[in-house]
Amino acid sequence: MEESAARPLGDLDRVRRRVLWSLPAGLYLLGAADGERRNLMTLSWATQLATQPKLLGVGVEAGALTHALVREGGAFSLSVLHRHDRAIVRRFVKPAEDDPEAGTLGGQRVLTASTGAPILAGAAAWLDCELRHVLELGSHTLFVGEVIDCDLPGGEEITPLRMEDTRMSYGG
Ligand SMILES: Cc1cc2nc3c(=O)[nH]c(=O)nc-3n(C[C@H](O)[C@H](O)[C@H](O)COP(=O)(O)O)c2cc1C
Repeated sequence: MEESAARPLGDLDRVRRRVLWSLPAGLYLLGAADGERRNLMTLSWATQLATQPKLLGVGVEAGALTHALVREGGAFSLSVLHRHDRAIVRRFVKPAEDDPEAGTLGGQRVLTASTGAPILAGAAAWLDCELRHVLELGSHTLFVGEVIDCDLPGGEEITPLRMEDTRMSYGG
């Protein structure tokens, strides 16, 4: 007889969270702008979704400032962080203070991508995307953007920051 993989109902919540947390994830900064308003936020749910066209999907909390900026601005950027920059992640878990004179967001120097979205000046790599699809999923929205520009300021051999390099988790 085949063994059943079903588990007692009470266990489901805990184990489901553990399994969802176990899915390998990167840690990035999502950037977006609408006119003068701009922001960077810490994000782990990012993945390529198609090769032709080159589509990138990000899952963003419906209540986040960055959510409104992606929608209104019709674009987003993804900054890939260096592994040694994990302290930066904590600076972007709430709307970041913008100092346009100094060219900083949350105290970090930023550049403006061609869509107008901010990118971290010290990013290991970045992608700039025009918004193509929006799928409202409840707590989060899947924004799908087409990559229109990118760079690898950290060179070809970067070591990107991953969730497992921190003691943090998200979702579950
Ligand atoms: C490690 C970590 C990973 C996160 N990943 C995501 C994510 O993938 N999607 C998301 O919407 N929020 C994520 N968050 C939460 C957002 O960073 C946080 O709610 C954000 O500040 C809200 O954005 P806002 O500044 O635009 O309001 C994550 C937070 C942490 C600490």
